[in-house]
Amino acid sequence: ELSPIDKAKFVAAKRAAEFVEDGMRVGLGTGSTAAWLVRCLGEMVREDGLKIRGVPTSSRTAELARDVGIDVISLDEARWLDLTIDGADEFDADLSLIKGGGGALLQEKIVATASDQMIVIADAAKEVGHLGSFPLPVEVIPFGWQTSQALIEETLVSMDVMGRKTTLRMNGDRAFVTDEGNFILDLHLGRIGNARQLAMVVNQIPGVVENGLFIDICDQVVIGYGDGRVEVRD
Ligand code: A5P
Repeated sequence: ELSPIDKAKFVAAKRAAEFVEDGMRVGLGTGSTAAWLVRCLGEMVREDGLKIRGVPTSSRTAELARDVGIDVISLDEARWLDLTIDGADEFDADLSLIKGGGGALLQEKIVATASDQMIVIADAAKEVGHLGSFPLPVEVIPFGWQTSQALIEETLVSMDVMGRKTTLRMNGDRAFVTDEGNFILDLHLGRIGNARQLAMVVNQIPGVVENGLFIDICDQVVIGYGDGRVEVRD
């Protein structure tokens, strides 16, 4: 028996899997919700003979996708994808997102951007009026990361945000390291007034590789509820 939160993630994933058709190149997201999607697609491959190629957005997802029988290819082999299905940490009414809670935002953004369509799967608790309660992940290269952090904090002073504390993401007593060998700074902003501007300005700072704001990338959100209901928003 699934808990209500897992049920919500599962039904959203299951519904989104219906958008996947034979022959598609599909971007496979990262996180607990996306893991349900990968398992659903694996079942469709094994039991219904669905023919797809999957491009994973993390080493974790690559491993799971292979385990469940999906034909895994790299983004460079695929070049273009028909569809990416991924989770999110927050989404708003414009379908702008915060992603990267799982630390895979860089590959996730590249893969989503290379796709004709991006569908987000999320439990209803991820919907927000304003982005920013969830700390915004920013991927920085390890060289001089504290300088990048100071520059980010300085930049936040002039931005339309409530808080400006930043923390280095840890993995035990060491810095968390992404699949690309970088660090993650989590920006505790509270409320983001102008996400589009913030995303642009943060990406200009030396050492910053990418940020977790996804704007004008997501086309649809499939929202799952604990009682098994599903709602599609576009
Ligand atoms: C991974 O880097 C994130 O962008 C995930 O998509 C996000 O953290 C959602 O994860 P859950 O589905 O586990 O909530």
